[in-house]
Amino acid sequence: MENFVVSARKYRPSDFKSVVGQKHITTTLKNAIKNSHLAQAFLFCGPRGVGKTTCARILAKTINCENLKEEGEACNQCDSCLAFNSNSSFNVHELDAASNNSVDDIRSLVDQVRYPPQKGKYKIYIIDEVHMLSNQAFNAFLKTLEEPPKYAIFILATTEKHKIIPTILSRCQIFDFNRIQIKDIADHLAYIARTEEIDYEEEALRLIATKADGALRDALSIFDLIVTFSAGKKVTYQETISNLHILDYDYYFKVTEALLDESISSALLVFDEILKKGFDGHNFLVGLSEHFRELLVCKDPDMATLLQVSETARSRYVEQAGKASVSFLLSSLNICNQADLSYKSSKNQRLHVELVLMKLAKLPHALSLAAVAGNGAKKKA
Ligand SMILES: Nc1ncnc2c1ncn2[C@@H]1O[C@H](COP(=O)(O)OP(=O)(O)OP(=O)(O)O)[C@@H](O)[C@H]1O
Ligand SMILES: [Mg+2]
Ligand SMILES: [Zn+2]
Repeated sequence: MENFVVSARKYRPSDFKSVVGQKHITTTLKNAIKNSHLAQAFLFCGPRGVGKTTCARILAKTINCENLKEEGEACNQCDSCLAFNSNSSFNVHELDAASNNSVDDIRSLVDQVRYPPQKGKYKIYIIDEVHMLSNQAFNAFLKTLEEPPKYAIFILATTEKHKIIPTILSRCQIFDFNRIQIKDIADHLAYIARTEEIDYEEEALRLIATKADGALRDALSIFDLIVTFSAGKKVTYQETISNLHILDYDYYFKVTEALLDESISSALLVFDEILKKGFDGHNFLVGLSEHFRELLVCKDPDMATLLQVSETARSRYVEQAGKASVSFLLSSLNICNQADLSYKSSKNQRLHVELVLMKLAKLPHALSLAAVAGNGAKKKA
C-alpha cells in the first residue's frame, strides 16, 4: 500500500505564490529579497496553522537561492534550493523553542552563529514557537539579536506575540499573519480535491472551511478525515455534517419558516427533533442567530459580499429573506442574543430555548400591531 501523507504536509507551499491568503506578507518579502533590503530579524506572528513556519522556510530558501527568479521566487533547481528541499542544507537551522527552551540550547545556537556560512550568502536561524523560550534564554539571545553578523538572519515565529518581551519586539521586523478567509480556504480545498481526483460538493468544503475558523492546517486535517471516511470517493455535505456533528442548515430554514407562519407548535416540534438527534440547545441558538444574520445580509444587495454561504445555498437564503422583514430579523437577533447570554445561568435550558421560539413566533404579529399603532398615531398628529 502506498504510504499516506497527510494533506497538510503534502501540500505545504514551496514558494511564495502558493501561500494562500497572506499576500501582504509574501509581496513584502519578495520585494525585500529582490531589492536586497533584508532585515536581520523577522518576527512572524498570528494564529496557528496559517503559514508562519511555511513562510519562514520559503524565505530561508529564497534568500540563499543562487539564481533567483525575476519575480523574487526561489528557482528550486540550484544546489542551495535542492539541499534545502531535501532537508540537508547547512545554512538553515531550525530550533523548535517548544522543546528546546533552555539557556544551553540558545547558547549552542549563539555559538554556531559565530561561524560564517561555507557556501552561500546567509545562515538562517528559524526559531519556532519563540514565546516558549525561558526568560534566561531570551536574555542570552538578546545580544546576538542586537548585533548579529552580516551573514546571519533570524526568523522568529510565534502564536503569542504578547508574550514576547519588548526588547525583542523592537529588534525585529514584525509580520502579522491573517486568519484565512473562508472562501480562500474553500478554494484551496477544491484545488487539492481536484488534484487528488476526489469529487466534492461545494457546500461540504465551505462547511469544513467555516469549521476550521481561519486555520488552513485544521481545514486540511478535517478534509483528510472526511475523505478517509468516504473511502476517497466523494466529499458530500451530508457526510460532512454527520462527521463533524454539525446541524444541517435545513433545520434553520424549517424553524424560521414556522416562526414566520407564527406556528409555535411546528417550531417546537422541529426543536424537539434537533434535541433528539443529540444536538445541544445552546449551539442551536447560536446557529439560529447566524441564520438570521445571513438572511439580514441577503436583504441588501450591497451587503451580499458579507454572505458566508456557498453559491448553491445562496438562492435559498435570498428566497427566505424575501419573506422576512428587516424588523423581524433585527428583533429576532436581539432576542437570540439575550438568550445566548443568559443560557448558561438558566436552570431549565430546554425551556429557555423553547421560550425564545415562542417569543419569536409571536414577533410577526407584534410587529404588525406596532406598525398599525404607529400609523394611527401619525394620523392623529
Ligand atoms: N497560508 C497558507 N497557504 C497554504 N497552505 C497553508 C497556509 N497556512 C497553512 N497551510 C497548510 O498548513 C500546514 C501548516 O502550516 P504552518 O506550519 O506554516 O502553520 P503555522 O502558522 O506555523 O502554525 P503553528 O502556529 O501551529 O506552528 C502547511 O503544511 C500547509 O499545508
Ligand atoms: Mg509553526
Ligand atoms: Zn535556487
